[in-house]
Amino acid sequence: DRATHGSVETAKTVALKHDTVPPREAMTSNQGLKISDDQNSEKAGVRGGSLLEDFLLREKITAFDHERIPERVVHARGAAAHGVFEAYEDLGALTMASPFAAKGKQTPVFVRFSTVAGSRGSADTPRDVRGFAVKFYTDTGVWDLVGNDMPVFFINDAIKFPDLIHAVKPEPHVEIPQAASAHDTFWDFASLSPETAHMLMWTMSDRALPRSFAHMEGFGVHTWRLVDAKGGSRFVKFHWKPVKGVHSQVWDEAQKTSGKDADYQRREMFESIERGDFLEWELGLQIVEETDEFAFDFDLLDSTKLIPEELVPVRPVGKLTLNRNPDNYFAETEQVAFCVSHVVPGIDFTNDPLLQGRLHSYLDTQLRRIGPNFAELPINRPLNPVSNNRRDGFAKATIHPGRVSYFPSALGGTHPAHQPKAPDAFRSYAEKVDGHKIRARSTSFTDYFSQATMFWNSMASWEKDHIVAGFAFELNQCETKAVPKAVMANLLVNIHPDLAARVAEETGLDIAECQRVAPKPVVTETAAPAEMPSGRL
Ligand code: HEM
Repeated sequence: DRATHGSVETAKTVALKHDTVPPREAMTSNQGLKISDDQNSEKAGVRGGSLLEDFLLREKITAFDHERIPERVVHARGAAAHGVFEAYEDLGALTMASPFAAKGKQTPVFVRFSTVAGSRGSADTPRDVRGFAVKFYTDTGVWDLVGNDMPVFFINDAIKFPDLIHAVKPEPHVEIPQAASAHDTFWDFASLSPETAHMLMWTMSDRALPRSFAHMEGFGVHTWRLVDAKGGSRFVKFHWKPVKGVHSQVWDEAQKTSGKDADYQRREMFESIERGDFLEWELGLQIVEETDEFAFDFDLLDSTKLIPEELVPVRPVGKLTLNRNPDNYFAETEQVAFCVSHVVPGIDFTNDPLLQGRLHSYLDTQLRRIGPNFAELPINRPLNPVSNNRRDGFAKATIHPGRVSYFPSALGGTHPAHQPKAPDAFRSYAEKVDGHKIRARSTSFTDYFSQATMFWNSMASWEKDHIVAGFAFELNQCETKAVPKAVMANLLVNIHPDLAARVAEETGLDIAECQRVAPKPVVTETAAPAEMPSGRL
């Protein structure tokens, strides 16, 4: 039950829990019937047919038949741990979000790490992005910070997400390959979508091969919004900085690890926690005042861009410690439901069009994956009481008494009332919105290459070697020879001539020929943002 949430157990108690074999309880059926024998089915004579009346056989087999739920459509493979977030200081001047209300305040958390492309049974160490999803059980409700281990994303409008994922997942006719990116369809999509350039640099770098979960950074990716108690607001980017530092495997090592131990990273995290070597991160914030919304040469709403730390330093505000393994993988790690729409007072959204689409997608997919009452499962329940008029649906656990399940009502009973005056009630930030309805992308999103180039320029020479090797490996895997040519002509030459020349050398591509034959990128319709000062970009 929820009693397991949030308690910070020491390594000793954790170890004890696993070493002690408790006395066996009497086995019962789901209806509480004591079972005399669950190893033999009931038969008509010892060698006769099994009897249809054997309800214990049917109950056991039926439960087994229904053990699987759909795996996550992305991020299917994951591992998780419980822990605590502790605030370094009172951040009330910036946000009323409760985890930051006082120095030393502790908030229980559950964190799930994942790969993106592979299925639930795939390996831990492919070249891929990693999910870094944090559920804060705050005293004002659940707040989910659903991030990745890279600060930017492949696309900047959610409507392209099904295309991106269909391109990166195994090809539909043969379900090959399981590896994240090494195939024609992914590179075909990328070569025609120049907004992927920056993220491709991250995924071809060592960042896509983390050594362990404890050695990964985490990022909220989008620009989010902090809101203070007076209704003031500022923009924020969230960063998780691993206390152990950032470390990676090299590609050859990662491939061998996959072959030797597909569970390498989940095992490593489980064992670290069992021996008391807890996983730790600092949470950092990059704060941008609303008045500085247009102070950068990129758009804060474009998720393919990061804010360089030289421009806006990361301010450490608290520490995350993962100190307790789940007791049951399915009940906790598999059934946990992270949603970007789970926010608390003090945290709010921006108009980032990738974030806006995610706000719909997570709830929608979880209704399908775990059902309409997923929020009632122990791992998903908030610590504070839940009280509303939602009722019924598959697997409803809560028993609501009385006949009133609507508002308003003068009939009495236990129905809850909304709280128009409560200072701790959630109110959306009253952002001013004024525009024409238009299906388009802002021209402030069309600088595809500057930050990809910045990434290349910021690398040490050995890191550049690894990036070149990453691209060369991937492009050499492509079976359709036109695909690497398009990657070269539409992406690499625009990122940096050295990168293009070195990848050409490793792949045998002729840059001039690539430029002659490559199909042109698909530039989606764009419109100038009237509200941005002209000439800024
Ligand atoms: C799952 C991150 C973009 C749809 C996840 C998970 C993470 C994540 C960490 C795994 C959650 C878990 O551990 O249970 C991100 C980030 C994104 C991004 C950082 C971009 C910045 C999107 C977009 C969509 C989307 C644009 C759709 C429009 C989904 C879905 C799941 C998922 C459907 C499966 C959720 C479930 O079944 O529990 N994402 N994602 N994501 N994401 Fe995203």
